[in-house]
Amino acid sequence: MLKGLTGKSIVVTGAGAGIGAATCRRLVAEGAQVVAADIDLAAAEAIAKEIGSNAVALRADVSTPDGAAACVSAAVDAFGRLDAFHANAGVEGRAHLVSDFDLAMYELVFGVNVRGAFLCASAALRRLTSQGDGGGILFTSSLASLQGTPSMAIYTASKHAVHGLVRCLAREVSPGIRVNALAPGVVDTRMMRSLEQSMGAAGGTDAATLRAGLEAAVPMRRYASVDEIAATAAWILSDEVPYVHGETITVGGGLTP
Ligand SMILES: NC(=O)c1ccc[n+]([C@@H]2O[C@H](COP(=O)([O-])OP(=O)(O)OC[C@H]3O[C@@H](n4cnc5c(N)ncnc54)[C@H](O)[C@@H]3O)[C@@H](O)[C@H]2O)c1
Repeated sequence: MLKGLTGKSIVVTGAGAGIGAATCRRLVAEGAQVVAADIDLAAAEAIAKEIGSNAVALRADVSTPDGAAACVSAAVDAFGRLDAFHANAGVEGRAHLVSDFDLAMYELVFGVNVRGAFLCASAALRRLTSQGDGGGILFTSSLASLQGTPSMAIYTASKHAVHGLVRCLAREVSPGIRVNALAPGVVDTRMMRSLEQSMGAAGGTDAATLRAGLEAAVPMRRYASVDEIAATAAWILSDEVPYVHGETITVGGGLTP
């Protein structure tokens, strides 16, 4: 068992699928209690039901102030306090060239990935600061926060913003509150299925060829599983690494920026 997670009250956003769902499962297996928050209530409810009494489901759109605040309130209502907030929800948009600009997609991706991360951090910090006994904030960022990829400018810029947010918060929060980002490379989720299609289309190839190329570029020659990313998230949120603060920790199977 990882140290320091037993009985902790932790919000995970984007919990209805992929990395967020796996992180909820892992945190509860380590003794924590979770608010599984997602814009898709049915998906969040399914995960919470599967996990059992240590999970509650919440419909929340993290790109709105009310949605971010509701995540914190749900933790306090269900478990009496907030110990950590995993701002994981994110959207990828569609791969395309900057010259083929799509304002609606820009607004969506920045709304969730940047405004959502910012609003969730703000809501969580108000609560953690008023409690006065530390806590954790973890963003799911991406290797895209540290490097560029053709046809992925909007998503990449949004994750670079999360990198900046972590660096500022590290110097802004009270001692005892740790703020970090987890930066996966390629993870086997719906998001990669979608990107295989749209990056393939942008590059004039099909999804299977695109995936094979991505896997070949990873030194470990495969995508990460969601459980591998969840394990890292739980480790960062635990008391095993109390001096890790202000970091963007890459989990790329050997891929480095
Ligand atoms: N899959 C990858 O290869 C990969 C790599 C690097 C980083 N990431 C990041 O990991 C995080 C999770 O991605 P995933 O691969 O699990 O994706 P996913 O699409 O499988 O799951 C994302 C979840 O977020 C929810 N969501 C979307 N918009 C929301 C909103 N406004 N409010 C609340 N919930 C919302 C969705 O309903 C979904 O359940 C994202 O931030 C993503 O950018 C993923």
